[in-house]
Amino acid sequence: MKEEIKEQFNFIDKIKSINEGKNLKYNIFTMGCQLNENDSEKIAGMLEKMGYTVTNNVNQADIAIFNTCCVRENAEDKLFGKIGEMKKLKERNGTIIAIGGCMMQEKHIVEKLHNSYPYVDIIFGTHTMHKLPEDIFKVLENRRKVEDIINIDGEIYEGLPIKRTDNSKASVTIMYGCNNFCTYCIVPYVRGRERSRKKEDILNEIKQLAEEGYKEITLLGQNVNSYNGGENYGFAELLRDVNKIDKIEKIRFISPHPKDFSIDVINAIKDCEKVSKIIHLPLQSGSSNVLKKMNRHYTKEQYLELVEKMKKLIPNVVFSTDIIVGFPEETEEDFKDTLDVVKKVEFEQVFMFIYSRRVGTPADRMENQIPEEIKHERFNRLKELVESQIESNNKKYIGTIQKILVEGKSKNNSNMLTGRTDSNKVVVFEGNDELINTTINVKILSQHMWYLKGEIIDS
Ligand code: 5AD
Ligand code: SF4
Repeated sequence: MKEEIKEQFNFIDKIKSINEGKNLKYNIFTMGCQLNENDSEKIAGMLEKMGYTVTNNVNQADIAIFNTCCVRENAEDKLFGKIGEMKKLKERNGTIIAIGGCMMQEKHIVEKLHNSYPYVDIIFGTHTMHKLPEDIFKVLENRRKVEDIINIDGEIYEGLPIKRTDNSKASVTIMYGCNNFCTYCIVPYVRGRERSRKKEDILNEIKQLAEEGYKEITLLGQNVNSYNGGENYGFAELLRDVNKIDKIEKIRFISPHPKDFSIDVINAIKDCEKVSKIIHLPLQSGSSNVLKKMNRHYTKEQYLELVEKMKKLIPNVVFSTDIIVGFPEETEEDFKDTLDVVKKVEFEQVFMFIYSRRVGTPADRMENQIPEEIKHERFNRLKELVESQIESNNKKYIGTIQKILVEGKSKNNSNMLTGRTDSNKVVVFEGNDELINTTINVKILSQHMWYLKGEIIDS
């Protein structure tokens, strides 16, 4: 373990003795992607070791953490709204307020916090999350404000405690940062350049998860298929090694980049029986013109060829995707190309986004930004197409038998259990709680757009 982390464990111990017997609570509000959720699990791990226990009610929290995302604009309004609400709570209960994550790497956001929300105690960035124990200690000891942000790429720190949210599935970050600089995206500026974890650290973490009873692993990174584990060891080799780990039944990964989908990775997906056959393949736009302006390094035709190649090589492969509508200068023709790709590929799932201007990115400086009404109109047309495809695609599941890892009780109906098909469709069905974290066969009976209903046929 690195010295820096040992030092943080010392701070954890000091805080633990300060907190002794006080029954203190923490609350974490997480925005954004699964990488952020995985970071929040590490924050929770550190807080639990300091003697805090979780509460879902921020009003009861002694320490409130906000783990922020800045990929799209609406997150900012949401964050500032939440921080505004914290003022009274701070005055009443003295709640410690800590804000971290991607948004804190943006200068204008930190300035706004300084100017308008002076009661925030700790501001930490993406490269200094591991120092939260030290930051909290400073606040407890000196009632001092702490700002801990650096703009150089953070090192990879192994050995942080972690408190996972699920019992059957777990996320494992394999690489940090991004080198691609898609022109709309803020991520490379706030998360720094690509850094891969050592393969041994990743494989040991997954082996331990398998021992603890986890059955499904999601490998995470901004661009997982450019994972670099050393000479001749890339993402394909990593997939093959994870596939060999006993007791792990399902392997998923997000997000890959279409330009880095080598034949080795395609073959590994085909050969590894545990690797899910739904591939998330972010399209962003179906227009070669727009893709060029986005700096995506592929054309419409190359994307479709890649899909065809995978369909040919990987039996039963299906796809999900991310699409942005209303990128600067996007014409009606460009947008129709996006609809065309959606029609051709028939995605299982499409995450649709309205283009959002991000300060500091090249696309924000482009002329001919698309008016809001047009963006919304295109978004609605895309949504209509996607929903009609999903509905007709869902019908194909009716009558089929799906192997499903039971994840837990359904959120909307606690009498029902829930899990997902290999292709990531939510399935709900009646069943005994004892089935949770086992894999069972479910016959699909009906479709309801965002989920399928079924019945267990043996267990
Ligand atoms: N505006 C809208 N959507 C964006 N994404 C990334 N940056 C932006 C932006 N500025 C979307 C992309 C990416 C997903 C995680 O978020 O589709 O794949
Ligand atoms: Fe952003 Fe592109 Fe990197 Fe994804 S690959 S994080 S969209 S810059």
